[in-house]
Amino acid sequence: MQHSIFFFPWPPLALAGLLLLLFLHRRWQCNRRLPPGSMGWPYIGETLKLYTQHPNAFFSIRRKRYGNIFKSHILGCPCVMISSPEAAKMVLASKAHLFKPTYPQSKERMIGPAALFFHQGHYHSLLKRMVVASFSPTAIRGSVAAVETIALRLLSNWEHVIHPICTLQEMKKYAFEVAMMSALGSEAEPLKEGIRCLYGKLEKGYNSMPLEIPGTPFHKAMKARKALDEMLRKIIEKRRENCGGGLLGNMLRLQKQKEEELSDSQIADNIIGVIFAAHDTTASVLTWLLKYLHDNPNVLQAVAAEQEGIRRKLQVEEERGLTWDDTRDMPLTIRVIQETLRSASILSFTFREAVEDVEFQGYLIPKGWKVLPLFRTIHHTSDFYPNPDKFDPSRFEVSPRPNTYMPFGNGLHSCPGSELAKLEMLVLLHHLITTYRWRVIGEEDAIQYGPFPVPKGGLPIRVTRRGKNSIFSSINQYNKN
Ligand code: HEM
Repeated sequence: MQHSIFFFPWPPLALAGLLLLLFLHRRWQCNRRLPPGSMGWPYIGETLKLYTQHPNAFFSIRRKRYGNIFKSHILGCPCVMISSPEAAKMVLASKAHLFKPTYPQSKERMIGPAALFFHQGHYHSLLKRMVVASFSPTAIRGSVAAVETIALRLLSNWEHVIHPICTLQEMKKYAFEVAMMSALGSEAEPLKEGIRCLYGKLEKGYNSMPLEIPGTPFHKAMKARKALDEMLRKIIEKRRENCGGGLLGNMLRLQKQKEEELSDSQIADNIIGVIFAAHDTTASVLTWLLKYLHDNPNVLQAVAAEQEGIRRKLQVEEERGLTWDDTRDMPLTIRVIQETLRSASILSFTFREAVEDVEFQGYLIPKGWKVLPLFRTIHHTSDFYPNPDKFDPSRFEVSPRPNTYMPFGNGLHSCPGSELAKLEMLVLLHHLITTYRWRVIGEEDAIQYGPFPVPKGGLPIRVTRRGKNSIFSSINQYNKN
């Protein structure tokens, strides 16, 4: 019998064809290689190694072994780490739509899921506009006197101290006060001490494995986070009518104008998130500043001369306080801060997540994997920063090459608080350097996480007065303002 087209076995053939296509597709997918690297132990991955080794060693060992792109597994997430400026730019800016800003779930829960860090689109730009407006140079230039008051108050407490001071703890007190003032306004806040204490507990669990077992650092941190939320809700309730100042005031006014736009829990998550982002980062960088200045006496001497010049100017002009313009007139101190941000790279990396399978330099970055641009590694590449381990502020006499300097990130999620952070550092350094000398206790070069990498023990120092004239006589006058 002649075969007719009608008797041809179409369904089985189509099925076989489909199976063949699927098979070829899977083979093609398998051929697309994952980057080299180690995924470490099951579940724990390389988390413990990352947070116990010196971060320079952790990243440089892997970069030497595997190159500019490698895989790893941290905080319960598979991830790809990348360390070329071009790749960082692609992930954070030019192809940001392929990499959404989600962090490991444990970190999101600690900071607050509605905080702007983890969002894109309309919600993110609404919040970002508000945060940028609250922390832009125009907005903060009027806060110099308030920041100075906080700095002077902190330093006056050192005047009669004879025992060693933990730099990190002191800098946390300072940066926390400034963060609270910027986030909540200058109104006296009775819950402030309670909030500070809860942040301390939260930080301790920030880099821990997300184990919901009572007694673990993560569990304690989550309890503190819940209590923080309750405190913030109370403050929001109290401020509902008379919104007040700071970022909170701006958010409450917006909530009043367009009720559907921001809920109380979104406001609370963002205030908690901004205070978190503002104080531990700045405190850690300040701690490194004291370490680098101590270890580089020539740099310290030159910075002291620059700051003495400013101090003389203030004295001539009838003992006035610092102004915004004074802080723009400290070129060497600014370069020292830039070099500290590079050298310490306290945010070694940030997190993004691939929203689809992405091909990059012949490797597959699978959908759902975290992608970590390694700021620290880029900042320590000798092609961009010759002799990268040397503390050399003069390298910033020339602008860095594009995308090789990202202490405040890059793209839509870059830091809106960079100017405030620099202002805080300049004001504190001015008064610290013109008033005190300090000596670091212990020579160890080890680091610890608190929660960002800082010198071991938080940099214990001994301070002594430089000269006889007390700058603290003017404190009472500042406190009245
Ligand atoms: C020296 C101190 C600081 C450093 C090194 C730092 C660093 C960074 C970096 C690298 C990012 C980008 C993260 C990413 O792309 O995922 C970031 C974002 C952010 N920072 Fe800072 N920061 C500092 C101080 C501050 C301060 C004082 C504030 C207070 C306003 C602040 C608020 C924020 C916020 C709200 C974001 C999220 C922005 C967004 O997602 O659009 N930071 N910071």
